[in-house]
Amino acid sequence: MATIESSMADIQKVHILGKEAIHCGFHLIPYIVETVLGSLPASTYVLVTDTNVANLHLHKFSDQFDAQIAARSVQARFISHVIPPGETSKSREGKAAIEDFLLKNACTRDTVILALGGGVIGDLVGFVAATFMRGVRFVQIPTTLLAMVDSSVGGKTAIDTPHGKNLIGAFWQPEYIFIDAAFLETLPTREFSNGMAEVVKTAAIWNADEFAALESRSSEIFAAIQTPSQFNAGRTLSTRSEAQALLLQVIVGSISVKAHIVTIDERETGLRNLVNFGHTIGHAIEAVVTPQILHGECVSIGMILEAEIARLLGVLGQVAVGRLTRCLKAYNLPVSVHDPRIASLPTSKLLTIDRLLDIMKVDKKNAGPAKKVVLLSRIGATHEPKATVVPDAVIRKVLSEAVTVIAGTPRNSPVSMATPGSKSISNRALVLAALACGTCRLKNLLHSDDTQVMMAASWISKYGATFAWEDGGDTLVVNGGEGALTPPPPGKELYLGNAGTAARFLTTVCALVRSEDGTQSTVITGNARMKQRPIGPLVDALLANGTDVKYQENEGSLPLKIKASTTGFAGGHIRLAASVSSQYVSSILLCAPYAAQPVMLELTGGQVISQPYIDMTIAMMKTFGIVVTRRKDEESGKLLDIYDIPTGKYVNPPEYVIESDASSATYPLAIAAITGTTCTLTNIGSSSLQGDAGFAKAVLEPMGCTVEQTETSTTVTGPPVGSLQAIGLVDMEPMTDAFLTASVLAAVACKPVSKERELPDAPSNTTRILGIANQRVKECNRIRAMIDQLAKFGVQTKELDDGLEVYGLEPSALKNGASIHCYDDHRVAMAFSVLGSLINGTIIEEKRCVEKTWPNWWDDLENKIGLSVDGVELSSQPDASTSGAGRDPEASVLLFGMRGSGKTYLGQIAASELGWEYVDADQYLETVYKMTCKDFVVTHGWDEFRATETRLLPEIISLKPTRTIISLGGGIVETEAARDILKEYAKTKGPVVHISRDIRQIVEYLTNETERPAYSQEIEEVFARRKPWFEECCSHRFVSIVEPTASSSDESLRQIQRTSREVGTFFRHITGVSPNLSPKVNLGQRSYFLSLTFPDIVAQKDLLDENRSDILTGIDAVELRVDLLSPHGAAKQPNVPPREYVIQQLAWLKHITNLPVVYTVRTIAQGGAFPDKAHEELFALLELGIQMGTEYIDVETTLPHSKIRKLAARKGASKLIASYHDWSGDLRWFGTEIEAIHTTASSLGDIVKIVGKANSLEENMELRSFTKSVKKANQSKPIIAINLGEQGQLSRILNETFTPVTHSQLPVAAAPGQLSFSQIQSGLHLLGQLPAKRFYLFGNPISKSPSPTLHNSGFHVLGLPHHYELHQTETVDESVRSIIRSPTFGGASVTIPHKLTIMEALDELSPAAKLIGAVNTVIPVEQADGKTILLGDNTDWQGIRNSVLSRSACRWTAQDTGLIIGAGGTARAAVYALNQLGVGRILLWNRTYSSATQLASSFPVEYNITALTDLSDISNVPPSIIIGTVPASAVTEGGVKLAPEMFGCRQGGVVVEMAYRPKVTPLLELASKASSKWTQVYGVDVLLEQGLRQFELWTTLRAPRRAITQSVTDFYNAV
Ligand SMILES: NC(=O)c1ccc[n+]([C@@H]2O[C@H](COP(=O)([O-])OP(=O)(O)OC[C@H]3O[C@@H](n4cnc5c(N)ncnc54)[C@H](O)[C@@H]3O)[C@@H](O)[C@H]2O)c1
Ligand SMILES: [Zn+2]
Repeated sequence: MATIESSMADIQKVHILGKEAIHCGFHLIPYIVETVLGSLPASTYVLVTDTNVANLHLHKFSDQFDAQIAARSVQARFISHVIPPGETSKSREGKAAIEDFLLKNACTRDTVILALGGGVIGDLVGFVAATFMRGVRFVQIPTTLLAMVDSSVGGKTAIDTPHGKNLIGAFWQPEYIFIDAAFLETLPTREFSNGMAEVVKTAAIWNADEFAALESRSSEIFAAIQTPSQFNAGRTLSTRSEAQALLLQVIVGSISVKAHIVTIDERETGLRNLVNFGHTIGHAIEAVVTPQILHGECVSIGMILEAEIARLLGVLGQVAVGRLTRCLKAYNLPVSVHDPRIASLPTSKLLTIDRLLDIMKVDKKNAGPAKKVVLLSRIGATHEPKATVVPDAVIRKVLSEAVTVIAGTPRNSPVSMATPGSKSISNRALVLAALACGTCRLKNLLHSDDTQVMMAASWISKYGATFAWEDGGDTLVVNGGEGALTPPPPGKELYLGNAGTAARFLTTVCALVRSEDGTQSTVITGNARMKQRPIGPLVDALLANGTDVKYQENEGSLPLKIKASTTGFAGGHIRLAASVSSQYVSSILLCAPYAAQPVMLELTGGQVISQPYIDMTIAMMKTFGIVVTRRKDEESGKLLDIYDIPTGKYVNPPEYVIESDASSATYPLAIAAITGTTCTLTNIGSSSLQGDAGFAKAVLEPMGCTVEQTETSTTVTGPPVGSLQAIGLVDMEPMTDAFLTASVLAAVACKPVSKERELPDAPSNTTRILGIANQRVKECNRIRAMIDQLAKFGVQTKELDDGLEVYGLEPSALKNGASIHCYDDHRVAMAFSVLGSLINGTIIEEKRCVEKTWPNWWDDLENKIGLSVDGVELSSQPDASTSGAGRDPEASVLLFGMRGSGKTYLGQIAASELGWEYVDADQYLETVYKMTCKDFVVTHGWDEFRATETRLLPEIISLKPTRTIISLGGGIVETEAARDILKEYAKTKGPVVHISRDIRQIVEYLTNETERPAYSQEIEEVFARRKPWFEECCSHRFVSIVEPTASSSDESLRQIQRTSREVGTFFRHITGVSPNLSPKVNLGQRSYFLSLTFPDIVAQKDLLDENRSDILTGIDAVELRVDLLSPHGAAKQPNVPPREYVIQQLAWLKHITNLPVVYTVRTIAQGGAFPDKAHEELFALLELGIQMGTEYIDVETTLPHSKIRKLAARKGASKLIASYHDWSGDLRWFGTEIEAIHTTASSLGDIVKIVGKANSLEENMELRSFTKSVKKANQSKPIIAINLGEQGQLSRILNETFTPVTHSQLPVAAAPGQLSFSQIQSGLHLLGQLPAKRFYLFGNPISKSPSPTLHNSGFHVLGLPHHYELHQTETVDESVRSIIRSPTFGGASVTIPHKLTIMEALDELSPAAKLIGAVNTVIPVEQADGKTILLGDNTDWQGIRNSVLSRSACRWTAQDTGLIIGAGGTARAAVYALNQLGVGRILLWNRTYSSATQLASSFPVEYNITALTDLSDISNVPPSIIIGTVPASAVTEGGVKLAPEMFGCRQGGVVVEMAYRPKVTPLLELASKASSKWTQVYGVDVLLEQGLRQFELWTTLRAPRRAITQSVTDFYNAV
């Protein structure tokens, strides 16, 4: 039995709706129980909570309730109900479940319900209470910060429905809200930050002081929840720590505001919607990225965007936006959708402007379609006491990532403005004002991390300075602390984040701190990055001066512990090494007047760095009343690095205007210059110590502007538009940051340079900027950036070692509509917006990058300068003009390459494979000039040859625009004119193919060659010169593989065949005539690819040869894992395979197999080996894949989409597989995340690939229902969706498109859980997805047939459950008819004597079967309506054709003659086969002449068949292909008389024997006797080929050639 704990507690109470209902404190459980029991008598107390909270805190409640109920001896019970955590509980079902619990426990109207938990519990339980028994009393005990400050206060309760959040609910006020801040100690910090967003929000709209506290005390507030309070510390004031008090103060402050607003406007009619600040946009974002991103996180971003709306509308200043941003960041909240936490989510891609505006349309606050936003007017106040209607255009502008400046004349000219304050001056001014006596109003302060922490530092020191904002944040009022600094209380550290300048300045400031007994000290620290930044030289100087400084962690860096002595900073002679940072010097200078002794500061270490900054400090000290003198060498008058600083106190001037940042100042001045208007900057002039302040005089004046400067102001008036002058050489070494501004002006400085600035070696429109080499290593390589971006306007430039030259053009000559990539560099963005004020349609792609120095640049352009700025949503569609989609697939193909690369040979094969013409440009030249190329060169010289070649190029193209392979001389790329023609052709007309071959082979080949002109230089040198040109001009490349010399004639035949097949496939694909894609993918049939994980494919070429291995069996494509390629054995992460190696490997792969290749460069993050960040290298490799005609390119959707789209525009007939892999196991197959992934991938690729990781079998079902729903959608793209891991194997079995498979002969599976093709077939069978079928042979006699062996071995290798058997019958009888109509019937072979009679039992015949008049194959075909029909086909002719093609290199044309012996059914198939092979004339001989004539007349006349009477009578038309279709016995028994004349063809030919046994028949014997030039095809070969074809027709799978051949051969030899 628990004992009653003391309910004594110090409580802070807050009024709401006229009652003191909100009770706040620490460790309140006994107090809560006592208060509830004492003031809310009831028969039942029901506490509802979620499992997370229950585990942590429920027992304490039940203990106290039990104990106190017992002690009070009242008739009451306490029961509790625990529900699952999370938003999903806030549903109708969740509500019903609680109600059922209450009803089951017989709860009555007098029940009191306690809601213990976060907002989910509060909202849900509150709504239950509102309707249970028409409403019962309830109590809120919030345990999250969000619930404490927001959801529990105000009486709003609600549940979600699938239509949206909080759509059903009620206003129902709780009796009490108990805020026990001790609950926050168990809350995850992310949840705490989530609540802080609401706290910051409330302060931002209502209470500036509160906001200032939140802003400066974030680390203490975090600390308060991170240190657990022991022994109920904090329950009473006496045990409450300072951190706890602060935390409670923040919470109570926030609650008070909300309670106040709620009390005035309970039902949210006006004022109450102020608490929706940040929520209009925040909710829209949340709708897209929930549940990954929390409400407060979305609201945090929403607040910034809504504050930017206010800033754009001119009601809020930048300082406020900056403070808000910094404050939210301090609580670890995201402030932009580009925050990696959000940007890394797939759903973030859905955060388009249209989508967000669409969601905002249904906001509850809206009045009709108009959107309402709470506008801040300053920190702590709103523009109106309610939300303000804001036009869509404004919201759009703020949300858009890109902007365009509308070119024109600034409306506000003459402009007068101040530009953002200098950071260096701001930092110094803040230290000076804080140390001085009196009050100073700092104006135009640049609010940065440094100023932020310096202000925070004063907070901890009781007698330090104080700071206050005035004018809505435009002015900072500093009450100086006169340098009297006391140490902070023990335990408090000065946390500086990563603010570097602050760290350096404040280190010496801390040395000024004094304590009475000399025991206290100050600790200054920072974040991890800060703890590595050096501060050693400064500490050394202080130590030497007697200050006690200790490094707390790393020698030389923060944190530091600085002892507060009784006397403070000693002063006197201080030596400081000043070669690292001038900030050390400034730090000591700034504090020196407060030393006990006058300081003599001596700088040591040779070269003093950044003297101008030291001068700046000294000049500013003078303004605050302290004059520093720099010593001079008496004799030489040379300045020494020794400074004397008197002791004294700074005196604050009443006002100090921070000088403009001189680099920022260049932009408005440049706008005046370029638009011919006037601009005055009021806060920078000739007295400025900043180098960039020289810009107006050094650049603008010589360009033709009028420049007037006072000490503190600058006015520039530009000449009329279009009359800026080039200025020749300008050394910008003193003002390097301003060179970007100068460059954009130089682009339109078209008037000739004046005489005295003229450059002898450059045109008169040249501006040559030097002295800026350091700009290569800024935010980006700025010189390169300017060159590349100016090129988009058509502006020519030249890169120099130390700068660049820009050649000015008339403004009208610049291209409009340039879209500028900013490299995330503020200066690039601002410089090009200057150019945009003159050149129409200029788009600045990343507007946010200006935030670094001028966050409101765009607003200032609009409001202060008077140029309109529009938001632009960058188009995500690829540019149709470059997609090649509308290209004519029959456009001629241009070939070029080094001589000896096989251009002619390959070009001719290509032409023959495509059925196109082949034209050689050299020959064309020879025809035109009637001499050989060699003679031409000898007569006219190389230059003339090249010029002629180039001149003829367009001629040939226009002569042969289509259906021609045009082979060009290798030297064609030598002239620029020809290169331009080639590039243009590739871009707009057709493929330009670079044929290449290993250069060593070329050298070898050419050494023996004499026919063509000799190279004037060494071949390799020539190649090296041309290589980049080849690459630049071609759209595709074909790498010719020369295999080692064949060891046998069979092998050499295969080599030739491989090349023809490869060339045919390549050219058909790249032209688009017949892309080499898997037809199954689009038909939605199951398809598979095999992942090749070898580091070296070439070494595995035998494994990939279908004649030697079964590894590719059943496969529809092979995946080349480029990221795993490595010339040095297994690839190690990160792996970037050498380009040449990839080329060689891919070329080999394509040479060995005809299967489409899936080309994948998998990054490490997505489960591969390629480095994640190497985007340039990665896309270069993908581009290579497309160039080499790779059929499928895998692109990861996590890569930059702009790059993917560029690739897509180039892909031609190839397809992109847009892939996304989640290895975490967190990806679910339902909800918005997966939808977003899918939508993104669909928009990028032709095929979608999503890979998750299954933790349970059920997740495969979820995957399945996802893919099903996706496939139902209109125009859905094929999808590969699988789950990794063993738990995911089911998904691999069920996946339909391109299932990645492995094979037992591969070194490793490409992914965990990967199955082989045959495993998947077995799996499908067991799951009932692949029913076992029965196949038959019909005929008589058939007992010796090899067909069962053939097919059953094939089924076995593929893992198919089917069986093939013999069915011998005399006739096509009932048994046959019933077999073929059975549901398990898979197909049948038909042989003698049923080939004709079977036809009437079938439903349809293929065209071939019809014409041949015989059926040897029956195929059941399922129709769209689900019915099966029986199709009769004939594969005998295919057997003939395929065996001939695979065993001989011969090809036939209309000039060729073929001979068939016999006139039976097989002869009919032979006729058809010969015709299909292209033979122009067919001779037919049969013992019975009439049968021959009859057969001949049954074929169309085009077949050109002649029946012969005598076989020896053919010497005038010797056939080059002969097919024997009569049994061997017919010859041996004398019925058929063969004649040796048949083999009279001089070139030889192919003889096909259809008889199956004996292997060598009389016909073949005669052939070998007649000539060695006849290739023999055996009957068993034909049978094998027709069987393979049959197999494929039945199974729709590629037959396992090697395995089947093997088993048939074994069978044949055994019988
Ligand atoms: N009614 C309103 O005016 C109002 C206002 C804002 C938000 N809401 C609603 O509030 C809900 C969100 O509330 P939430 O952010 O508190 O989420 P939540 O209730 O889901 O709590 C967040 C997580 O923290 C856990 N948790 C809670 N207290 C804990 C503690 N002390 N220690 C450890 N874990 C703890 C919870 O179990 C949960 O997993 C949303 O449904 C939202 O619509 C309502
Ligand atoms: Zn909220």
